[in-house]
Amino acid sequence: MDNVGIVAFLHAIFLLMRATPAAVWLLFALCVFAATAGAADDARPPEARYDTSGQATRDGIGKRYFGREIARFMGHQGAGWLERPEREQEERTDLLLKELALRSGEHVADIGAGSGYFSWRMAKIVGETGRVYATDIQQEMLDILMRQMRKHGAEKIVQPILGTVRDCGLPVASVDTIILVDVYHELDFPYEMARSMIAALKPGGRLVLVEYRGEDPAVPIKPLHKMTAAQVKKEMAVHPVTFERNIATLPRQHILVFRKNAP
Ligand SMILES: C[S@@+](CC[C@H](N)C(=O)[O-])C[C@H]1O[C@@H](n2cnc3c(N)ncnc32)[C@H](O)[C@@H]1O
Repeated sequence: MDNVGIVAFLHAIFLLMRATPAAVWLLFALCVFAATAGAADDARPPEARYDTSGQATRDGIGKRYFGREIARFMGHQGAGWLERPEREQEERTDLLLKELALRSGEHVADIGAGSGYFSWRMAKIVGETGRVYATDIQQEMLDILMRQMRKHGAEKIVQPILGTVRDCGLPVASVDTIILVDVYHELDFPYEMARSMIAALKPGGRLVLVEYRGEDPAVPIKPLHKMTAAQVKKEMAVHPVTFERNIATLPRQHILVFRKNAP
């Protein structure tokens, strides 16, 4: 466009703006805002999403997300507690595995797998045609985990992945189900992790968050290591997933199932 053309174009816009009622322009501005709001949220720097102005409490990192203080993550020294023999009875981990209803051949990610308590048990269900990606941010945990996998003959099905605090480390659209058992509340960057996990799900895939019930004072777990169902749903509402159900059969934990939205 030459100079004359540009002037004519600007003049036409000026005439249009003069002739169009202000309400139409306001509506137009609102539409543009609504269309770009999601992208703007993604572009926000982490410090805008998290509140780091408060003090850290005993079990927390002093960083708050949707009003919840994020818990300090469990060090690899706690692996023995994850493997305690009474765990199955206390938490009915057998029932949790049944409720997941995994299929043979399914590709599953055990995020924050720790010592691999669930990894080898899930490997037995998905079988040799399936795959369990076991991720953690501590190499020491993954070393313990692989020893456990060899002990239970699951080393060919379970693949260890060293993730980062922001990225689960899985390829895009690679898994049918992602499960986090007692992990979400201690993610340093829950927003970024949720985004990366949802990207790793195939369309229609499941994201399952298992958390000690924050609503129940009888659950003998430190408050920052528990979550209410309402809080989890609030935090997931900013992501492209739909809440499907809360399976309430376990003695201490919620099983909150979300499904990835169609693109
Ligand atoms: C309480 S343990 C639970 C282990 C296992 N899910 C279980 O139930 O036996 C939490 C684990 O999550 C891991 N973790 C914390 N933040 C993580 C992140 N961003 N990505 C992957 N793992 C993480 C910790 O290193 C720790 O091993």
